[in-house]
Amino acid sequence: MTKALLILSIFVFLLSACSNPKEIAFESSGLETFRPIYHFTPTKGWMNDPNGLIYMDGEYHLFFQYYPDSTVWGPMHWGHAVSNDLVNWKELPIAIYPDSLGYIFSGSAVVDSENSSGLGTAENPPMVAIYTYHDMAGEKSGAKDYQKQAIAYSLDKGRTWIKYDKNPVLPNQGIKDFRDPKVSQITLPDGTKLWVMTLAVLDRIQFFGSPNLKEWRLLSEFGQGIGAHGGVWECPDLLPFTTPDGKQKWVLLVSLNPGGPQNGSATQYFIGDFQNGTFTPDDTMIRWLDYGPDNYAGVTWANLPKEQNRTLFIGWMSNWLYAQVVPTKSWRSAMTTPRELSLFDVDGTLLVKSAPAKELLALRQEEISVSKKESKLPSEAMEILAKVESDENFQLRFSNEMGEEILISKEMGLVTIDRRQAGRADFHPDFAAAHSAPMSWKPKDLRIFLDASSIEVFVNDGELVMTSLIFPTSPWKKLEVLNGLDEVKIYPLKKP
Ligand code: FRU
Repeated sequence: MTKALLILSIFVFLLSACSNPKEIAFESSGLETFRPIYHFTPTKGWMNDPNGLIYMDGEYHLFFQYYPDSTVWGPMHWGHAVSNDLVNWKELPIAIYPDSLGYIFSGSAVVDSENSSGLGTAENPPMVAIYTYHDMAGEKSGAKDYQKQAIAYSLDKGRTWIKYDKNPVLPNQGIKDFRDPKVSQITLPDGTKLWVMTLAVLDRIQFFGSPNLKEWRLLSEFGQGIGAHGGVWECPDLLPFTTPDGKQKWVLLVSLNPGGPQNGSATQYFIGDFQNGTFTPDDTMIRWLDYGPDNYAGVTWANLPKEQNRTLFIGWMSNWLYAQVVPTKSWRSAMTTPRELSLFDVDGTLLVKSAPAKELLALRQEEISVSKKESKLPSEAMEILAKVESDENFQLRFSNEMGEEILISKEMGLVTIDRRQAGRADFHPDFAAAHSAPMSWKPKDLRIFLDASSIEVFVNDGELVMTSLIFPTSPWKKLEVLNGLDEVKIYPLKKP
């Protein structure tokens, strides 16, 4: 190369680098490959369960299991993000740090509006986080009591947290899996209020009661020998619902790892009554909240204004089977879309429906018209709607320029997402799989949310839902309706 040519090429290189230095860095390092466009992810580091979901003064808070220094699980903190509309999330500084009592494991938050804890004032009631301390040294030494429940409080809307100086508030009874407190308040028949803690204890749930969030007494336990027990029970939630015919029922969500219907982690639920501190299920049927492989440890928001009249849920969009080896680089894990839970009835059996939260409509851009059989896809982030024709079976395929594809179908009573050829799967032997869910009732419509590394399929607006990670190496370019669907609509979704 002549000297002049060398100088010219250095000059051109510098010019292009200066015009957009960040993009060049990301492209060459792949640090942002697979980053979702509208699902919540931490800017960097490792994330698992949603924690402390709470609404206060116009803000939805999302705390989460977080390890900022690596993209695999490690010393757990509570990360923090807030949103006014469930789609624009702003990540805030870490809320709660591990300390000499242990890592900060999963838990919940409440607004103690009557200041029953005395940790705030009547004028400025505290936000109280109830979480599990996990003492690593204790675990390694072979002790059994290394998980305990503790509280911290915030007087500035979750921005800064003070740990209660008499922690733990609920010591361990010698059972090693003793974690993930979800607290809510119920009103007793005599009008007094009681805080109820729903806690995962090995292979069952224990309910504790407290007048002040500081002193807890055991009320009852539930679940030994009932439901799915292929792994340890984790991250429970107890929710009141009204049935379609106006009765009051309680739903108990229980995450299970492993032992889910698709291998690895999943969330089951029970429907029944909760009276005098005791949960009694209506039946012993095993029910799964989401039949896909990648929705775990999900719980619901506390303190929603009454006018919202809904139960709002979010899950961790991964599976412990491979969560720590998925091919993202600067961060690991996203949350699912937020969902509204309700009860519906199939021939006398109650089930929980998970409908996409209505706020997701705000992401839609102008609908693009589609031909009946085949359409070009506009972007990585899309919502697809379709009506199921009368014979109830259907099949559609997304594909890209790399010959990768994802197939969604209903055949012989099973709804299936087949991700066997959907892109990267080399990181874990169980990732490439077709996952099926039984659906004995009539499918009427489909709603599909696609993002850079996920697909969420809602049949009948969430009467059956399947959430699945996918790692295509180039964007989906073509949608083919192979059979059974009509009125297909595609909405590109914008970056919030
Ligand atoms: C569920 C879980 C919880 C625990 C947390 C630790 O995914 O195992 O039981 O509190 O993750 O990060």
